[in-house]
Amino acid sequence: MKIVLLGPPGSGKGTQANLICKKYDISHISTGDIFRTNIANGTALGKKAKEYIDAGSLVPDELTIKIVEDRLKQDDCKNGFVLDGFPRVRTQAEALSKMTQIDKAIMIDLDDEEIINRLSKRRMCRKCGNPTHLDNLINGYCEKCGGEVYTRADDAPEVIKQRLIKQKLPQDVVDFYKDLGLFEKINSTNSMEETFKLVDSILSGIKE
Ligand code: AP5
Ligand code: MG
Repeated sequence: MKIVLLGPPGSGKGTQANLICKKYDISHISTGDIFRTNIANGTALGKKAKEYIDAGSLVPDELTIKIVEDRLKQDDCKNGFVLDGFPRVRTQAEALSKMTQIDKAIMIDLDDEEIINRLSKRRMCRKCGNPTHLDNLINGYCEKCGGEVYTRADDAPEVIKQRLIKQKLPQDVVDFYKDLGLFEKINSTNSMEETFKLVDSILSGIKE
């Protein structure tokens, strides 16, 4: 199963990707996570990506496409994967179509007001990578694994604003997948579990 998750910042792509990967035992590939790991490790890629991420902008294609191409060649992607946050522009969608054939592109949508509400209260677990809500923490630690949590640098209010302005999903990406008959759209207004039911009903229609 090869799935692409599209959608605006904070709509729940990472949360749903985790649930899909757990149920179907496939790999989770988040370009945002790859950039953040590189930033934390001080790599050349991380230094370049940081400039764009801190400004709420997209990282240029020449950096982004290559990391996905390399990642998809790794063994753990053979059984399938969820691409979380890639592609975001038409050029990336076209590049991906040359690397592999995906089964579905699911857009997870949410209105800006709720996105701001969720992102301003999001905490990330350093240990298991789980994105969670401030209110779900247990004594300040991750409710899933007990790990230490942190606030993402790009969840600062001004950067959230910039991300919402600069990172709307372009219509030509939607059209690209619609033309291939692969596009699906759901809304993540309801709980994570209810949203996953919608996602899973789409996945269950995929023929293996
Ligand atoms: P990335 O890390 O992908 O950030 P993003 O797209 O802004 O999305 P987020 O990770 O912030 O949100 P999400 O949709 O995963 O939501 P989550 O599940 O955490 O990318 C970071 C940066 O890297 C980009 O800004 C860009 O600069 C760069 N980049 C990455 N990919 C790129 C590409 N392809 N091209 C160019 N640049 C790229 O949920 C959010 C919160 O809501 C959490 O607290 C969660 O617990 C909560 N939540 C989730 N679902 C629900 C629900 N149903 N009900 C209640 N709460 C919920
Ligand atoms: Mg995410």
